Amino acid sequence: MALLPILCFPDPKLNTIAKSVAAVDATIQNLINDMFETMYEAKGIGLAATQVDVHERVIVMDVSEERDTPLVLINPKLVWTSPETHLNEEGCLSVPGIYDGVTRHDAVKVEALDADGQLRVIEADDLLAVCIQHEMDHLMGKVFVEYLSPLKRNRIKTKMLKAQREARS
Ligand code: NI
Repeated sequence: MALLPILCFPDPKLNTIAKSVAAVDATIQNLINDMFETMYEAKGIGLAATQVDVHERVIVMDVSEERDTPLVLINPKLVWTSPETHLNEEGCLSVPGIYDGVTRHDAVKVEALDADGQLRVIEADDLLAVCIQHEMDHLMGKVFVEYLSPLKRNRIKTKMLKAQREARS
């Protein structure tokens, strides 16, 4: 297992559209293990492969308080979304320290392969539904701050670039 570096907004690599996983093999299983280690270490509840600069449709999540309910989504496909939506406060490991409101469906149904390559249907609401929508956006090259106003987004961009410069110096 290994900790993977997480790309930070506004790195343009975060805008890459991920490809479908062709086969759930040992390489993908190693990636999943490393992504879980990276996510738990960073105290995140979800991580998309895009964020560790691997552009394949793989997501790891754990929204439990106890941090003992890992969930893997490979090649996820939304098959249903609730008409009801809600504004939720979101954060992202790729945009450290920034939290802001994004409107998401209250509930979703998603089809995905698990870590063994088995097709599963997951019905999610509350935090898990929000997390699934947020992570699936990453696979499409979208970071949550792109839902905010251009003014807010530019402020965040400036703040992130300044923090990244300071971290390097
Ligand atoms: Ni994120």
